[in-house]
Amino acid sequence: MKYAIVGTGGRHQMFRDAVAITHADTAELVALCDVNQSRLALSASKVPDPGGNGVATYLAEDFDRMIAEQQPDTVIVTTPDFLHDDYIVRALRAGRNVMTEKPMTIDVNRLKRILDAQRETGKSVTVTFNYRYSPARTQLKDLLMSGVIGDITAIDFRWYLDRVHGADYFRRWHRYKDKSGGLLVHKSTHHFDLLNWWAASTPKTVTAVGKRDFYTPQMAVKLGLEGHGERCHACPVADRCEFRMDLEADEALKELYLDAEDDDGYWRDKCVFADDITIEDTMQVQAQYASGTSLNYTLVAYSPWEGLEVKFHGTKGELTHKHIEVHGVFAGGDRDKTERDNVTTELHLAGKLPEKLAVWEGTGSHGGADPIMLGYLFDPQHMEADRYGRASDQVAGAWSILTGIAANQSIARNGERISVDAMLAEAGIDLGEKR
Ligand SMILES: NC(=O)c1ccc[n+]([C@@H]2O[C@H](COP(=O)([O-])OP(=O)(O)OC[C@H]3O[C@@H](n4cnc5c(N)ncnc54)[C@H](O)[C@@H]3O)[C@@H](O)[C@H]2O)c1
Repeated sequence: MKYAIVGTGGRHQMFRDAVAITHADTAELVALCDVNQSRLALSASKVPDPGGNGVATYLAEDFDRMIAEQQPDTVIVTTPDFLHDDYIVRALRAGRNVMTEKPMTIDVNRLKRILDAQRETGKSVTVTFNYRYSPARTQLKDLLMSGVIGDITAIDFRWYLDRVHGADYFRRWHRYKDKSGGLLVHKSTHHFDLLNWWAASTPKTVTAVGKRDFYTPQMAVKLGLEGHGERCHACPVADRCEFRMDLEADEALKELYLDAEDDDGYWRDKCVFADDITIEDTMQVQAQYASGTSLNYTLVAYSPWEGLEVKFHGTKGELTHKHIEVHGVFAGGDRDKTERDNVTTELHLAGKLPEKLAVWEGTGSHGGADPIMLGYLFDPQHMEADRYGRASDQVAGAWSILTGIAANQSIARNGERISVDAMLAEAGIDLGEKR
């Protein structure tokens, strides 16, 4: 199978190496595409080249020519979120299958374009939801599928981003709602996808509050950072800023972004306290699912630790899962990091004492999720049949963003309850049977 990748930034490296190295016996990387010539050249230089011809590279304006000349079976989309729909639709209409990074897209109009193109071409769209493949999260699916806690009546889900990872969403394109959909789409697509999959249902109504309390100009003043620059590079207060991103100090970041910025002016290290940020850092959502399950959800982007807590309330008992990915880290360093991940899963059935379960483990990035997902994506014939249904198409991709899109609407309308069905009907979208 031949693959081409569009968007050669941070994330594409995992797909490039999976196709060109790990799964090179079944997959072939035929081309790379980006607006940035330096990043294109850097990526091409890392592709093994036994034939000596190198991988073909194309600037973004030549995307259609790339498809015509290189004839990839599948186009992998790893551009910023607001560009996904354009490349997905162009690849589908050129007769190609698509694998896209999350979120599939950021609003309902773009979603409709993707769904129409997929239906009209019959080609496939796969959304690469790596979180489903993390062994500890698959174990929750296994337990819920077994019916051990009975019917799921309610879920409490909290995700905490720390001051390194969380701050990173406030440095570049993610920080503009029209580029990422805000964290309720960009980040929460993972969480709402997990919730839809775990609960085997889809959202019906959504209410939300969201605000920016931490990554603000006022916070910079409180932290004594008056007079900060537009970016960390050459910032006059960088030496006393805990949020400094030092592109010079990290060779991988330097070559990928700092050395490439003359091509397109893309700054990787904009100040996280800037005035022009349009996304929230503190968000709470309530949703009702078609199955009757109700959800309370919180996402905070400046927490002192990073990870998640989820509790499923069922008619026979409770299932609780907590994963501390990073404990006690402040921006800019790895102060007081835990030695290793700390994951607990506890089953508490009515009439019994709580039971700590042995948590399923894996190795590799994102808690062992990425290698398993890449196996299913690029070498499915050597993987066992997936009884958990972890592969995600455009319909799962759509449902995973609809809670966040509805939540954004609710925030914009002072907490109004948004009907997902009405939102879809208004956009002319039919996702088929509700669960
Ligand atoms: N699943 C995960 O865990 C995970 C993790 C990180 C990123 N992602 C996703 O991967 C995608 C890319 O994120 P990233 O962190 O690599 O961003 P990035 O900014 O590092 O890379 C984006 C790349 O797209 C290129 N680009 C910009 N405009 C373009 C255009 N018009 N045409 C072609 N290329 C263009 C940029 O030059 C850059 O090389 C996002 O959708 C993000 O949500 C997913």
